Amino acid sequence: MFDLLTEAKRCARQAPQQTTAQAAADKPGEALAALQQEVAACSRCRLRESATQTVFGEGNPQAKLMFVGEGPGAEEDRLGRPFVGAAGRLLDKILAAAGFAREEVYIANVVKCRPPKNRLPARDEVNACLPYLLRQLALIRPQIIVCLGALATQSLLDDKARISVVRGRWFDKYNAKIMATYHPAALLRDATKKRPVWEDMKQVRDLYRKLQ
Ligand code: URA
Repeated sequence: MFDLLTEAKRCARQAPQQTTAQAAADKPGEALAALQQEVAACSRCRLRESATQTVFGEGNPQAKLMFVGEGPGAEEDRLGRPFVGAAGRLLDKILAAAGFAREEVYIANVVKCRPPKNRLPARDEVNACLPYLLRQLALIRPQIIVCLGALATQSLLDDKARISVVRGRWFDKYNAKIMATYHPAALLRDATKKRPVWEDMKQVRDLYRKLQ
């Protein structure tokens, strides 16, 4: 028969073990939260002066798959979350079509502050912010990284890479398989890029399935 007192004692005995295991599992999350605070207080470049807030990134701290975009736009700047504007809604659809839940992956950007009028981040701004992204990679340790667009590709893969040349191919870097594809915003401007992105995402999905 179920005895509440015995059950309570059993749970109390188990509790410390569960707490320790949980703490270990949560470590990347805690370290990411600390890094997020550091980023929020950053003044390494001029972008912070015009931005409403920093946009650190979000998702599963232990994600096997990470997407990296360029930098926050107007909606991201307003809400403090990555990829929540028009390009973000398209990214959500791409993720869903490939069978990924947004919460399952991690999404971040090269720069954490919105460039004024959505201009391309300058080289010194990228250089100032990139160490934060590299620390995110080191904490999350994704096995697959997808660079969305030219800036992420040139920042993470090769500063001379041309997206139309390197997209859809796997490279080994950061202890991960890394691939570049077109940025969702590029798809909004040019629908002919949808097919290649879908081909790239099928490769990502297939490799991800092998990791399970
Ligand atoms: N474009 C990006 O590169 N990142 C975002 O977060 C939103 C739009």
